[in-house]
Amino acid sequence: MDISVRKEDLTKYACDLLVLGAFLKEKESSLEFAQVNEALEGKLATFMKEDKFKAKEGSTFLMRTHGKIAAKRILVVGLGEKESCTLESVRQATATSLGIAKGLGLKSIASVLHATGIEGLTAADCAQAMVEGSELAMYSFDVYKKPKKISPVRFDLISVPAAQLRQIQKGIQIGELMARGTLLARDLVNTPAQDMYPGKLVEHARAIAKGKGTIRVKVYDTQALVRMGAGGILGVARGSDHPPFLVHMVYKPKKATKKRVALVGKAVTFDSGGLSLKPADYMTTMKVDMAGAAAVLGVFDVIDELAPECEVHGIFGAVENMPSGKAMRPGDVLIAMNKKSIEVLNTDAEGRLTLADTLNFAVKQKPQAIIDLATLTGACMVALGEEITGLMSNNDDLAGQVSSAAETAGEKVWRLPLEKNYKKLVKSHVADLQNVGSRWGGALTAGLFLEEFVEKTPWVHLDIAGPAYAERDIDPYTKKGATGHGVRTLLAYLKTF
Ligand code: BES
Ligand code: ZN
Ligand code: ZN
Repeated sequence: MDISVRKEDLTKYACDLLVLGAFLKEKESSLEFAQVNEALEGKLATFMKEDKFKAKEGSTFLMRTHGKIAAKRILVVGLGEKESCTLESVRQATATSLGIAKGLGLKSIASVLHATGIEGLTAADCAQAMVEGSELAMYSFDVYKKPKKISPVRFDLISVPAAQLRQIQKGIQIGELMARGTLLARDLVNTPAQDMYPGKLVEHARAIAKGKGTIRVKVYDTQALVRMGAGGILGVARGSDHPPFLVHMVYKPKKATKKRVALVGKAVTFDSGGLSLKPADYMTTMKVDMAGAAAVLGVFDVIDELAPECEVHGIFGAVENMPSGKAMRPGDVLIAMNKKSIEVLNTDAEGRLTLADTLNFAVKQKPQAIIDLATLTGACMVALGEEITGLMSNNDDLAGQVSSAAETAGEKVWRLPLEKNYKKLVKSHVADLQNVGSRWGGALTAGLFLEEFVEKTPWVHLDIAGPAYAERDIDPYTKKGATGHGVRTLLAYLKTF
């Protein structure tokens, strides 16, 4: 979709659909609405009244213009009450509008800039949110089937004040990066595990770095992992015919800087559970288990264009978790890269085994902050449901920064405690640690297990087991399938540098 900003007259701009926003309980309609309504001889307001249109979030009113204005149709989309209108309302309203356009098979859409003038929302922010909402809504994964509907090809933001043109252009540009990174992550996760095995993730990392002077990639194969003592990654990989890899990507900004952040992703390309085999129903979507790494790759795909002034390391240990005669067994003891021994009581708690090594590898890069993303526990979904990420951290400042980045990005996170008293639950009587806790508080014991490998480095753990994959349509821009959750939070966080 080609997105641009134009200083055009609302009534004279030829397109298939013109979109106007409306607030609930507003006495005065917007100037734009008044202008279009007048050109339509007052019929827009009359018909909306007849249909009892209320500008609630998500509600829409569509009508033909019969040649009275250059646009063929007009769509009024509700933004809810002005006081509670946020960038997320703008994303949702834009996604709704584009969804309707796509449903009707329309090619060219124009829209006013929603929500400008609301306190705290700049024109650039609003434009960015509109681009995010539209691009994310138009996504579909069609590699393995014929697409059902063709998406619109043009989306223009029109009737904007000339003074804001450049700002809006900047907002569009950032929105496009946010969307592109997210959509790449969606594609990687949606691809079946038969075609997205550890070696493929390596190929993607290399392809992303190619031609970008700011990014380099180093890949460690089995032999190298043995040398490094990466017993966690190697232990999980044992049951699979696919060899494991540790991938280390580094982005260095053009201007030298001492700031350094590490992004770590869980990269289990398929999680069968291993010998502690999952029940069939729980296994169907387990290609999702590399969504953490997919988010990191999504970030790296756009990072040189976002150009944060901070060195960024992207790290993941790519493995497949399968049962076989060679697979690790319940009761086996693995030695992680930091020499801590781990008793594997359940081979399905494999993510923390791979993260033990990757987090420790991240620590060795001496970053000031580590953020990991992992589809780590079903327990986190029991706690927070399918739409909210569990955030755990050993550092309140970093936790606050990541939470507020998530808030701006429109991704939901909620902090869970790393309760010291629960530490005893991951202590083993035969090894330093065991890889499962008790029946209760599974998201927390997983977090506490990971904390054993980050030493004193400020660290945020994001358990994205719920939001990484939508089992059903969630909202107008989050449809069934991979969501690319985490990419926008990470980019919003990096943008603060
Ligand atoms: N990959 C799963 C967690 C998961 C569940 C992700 C649902 C996405 C959706 C993880 O490896 C796992 O199996 N965790 C176990 C841990 C348990 C054995 C302690 C779980 O949550 O049941
Ligand atoms: Zn598992
Ligand atoms: Zn897993």
